[in-house]
Amino acid sequence: MTPILNIQDLTKTYQSTGQTLTVLDNINFSLEEGSTNAIIGPSGSGKTTLLGLCAGLDRSSSGMVELNGIRLDSLNEDARAQVRNQYVGFIFQNFQLLPTLTALENVMVPLELRGEKHIRQQALELLDKVGLADRSHHYPTQLSGGEQQRVSLARAFSNRPKILFADEPTGNLDAETSEKVVKLIFDLNREAGTTLVLVTHDAELAAKTQRIIRMKGGKIIGDDIMG
Ligand SMILES: Nc1ncnc2c1ncn2[C@@H]1O[C@H](COP(=O)(O)OP(=O)(O)OP(=O)(O)O)[C@@H](O)[C@H]1O
Ligand SMILES: [Mg+2]
Repeated sequence: MTPILNIQDLTKTYQSTGQTLTVLDNINFSLEEGSTNAIIGPSGSGKTTLLGLCAGLDRSSSGMVELNGIRLDSLNEDARAQVRNQYVGFIFQNFQLLPTLTALENVMVPLELRGEKHIRQQALELLDKVGLADRSHHYPTQLSGGEQQRVSLARAFSNRPKILFADEPTGNLDAETSEKVVKLIFDLNREAGTTLVLVTHDAELAAKTQRIIRMKGGKIIGDDIMG
C-alpha cells in the first residue's frame, strides 16, 4: 500500500551568526493512509518544524517529502499551496486566523479556493459543529484562545482533507471543550478516513492514536505502533 506521507532523510537547518543550527536531523518515517498518529517530545524538539515540512508550508534543507504520491520538495510555493488546499488540513499551534476576516469568512476561505458552492452554508455548519454558530460574525481578536482554536479546526475540516495535521489541538481548551474537539477529530478519521497527525503534550490524547512518534533534539528517538 502506498503511504499517504513518506519522509526520507529530512533535515532542516538554520544559519545564524555564522553558526548552523540543526533543528531536524535526518528524519525518516512513513504514515499509512487512514492511520492515527501522535508526535510527542519536549519543547524545542522540532515538532512544529516537522509538521510544517510535512504539510508543505515550509521547505526542508535536504531530504524528501512525498504527500499522497506528490514530491513536495520539488514544488514551488504556489504548487505546494495547491496541494495543501486539495489534500491537507492544518491546525496551527498559534491558530493563524486571518485577522481582517470574521470567523465565518475564515472558514469560507478554503471552500472558496476550491470553487465550491453554498460555501456560506457549509462554513456555518462547520462552525456549528465546533459550537461556535453564535460567534460566526466575530473577528479573531473578539474570540478567546479556545474559540480561535475551534475556528481553526472548522477551517481545517472545511476542505475534507485526506490528512489532518494538528499542532497542539487541545492546548488552549478546557477539559469539556477538549473532549468535544478530540471527538470531532477522531470522527473525521472514522467517517472520512482522514489520516491524523497530532502534535501534543497531552499523554491522554497521544494514547488514543495507533502510533506514537517520539522526538528529541531534532531526531526521532522512539516509534511505537500499538497492536
Ligand atoms: N526561523 C527559525 N530560525 C531559527 N531557529 C528556529 C526557527 N524556527 C524554529 N527554530 C528553532 O527550532 C527548534 C525547534 O522548534 P519547534 O517550533 O519545531 O519546536 P517544538 O517541538 O514545536 O516546540 P514546542 O513544544 O515548544 O512547540 C527550536 O529550538 C527553535 O528555536
Ligand atoms: Mg511547537
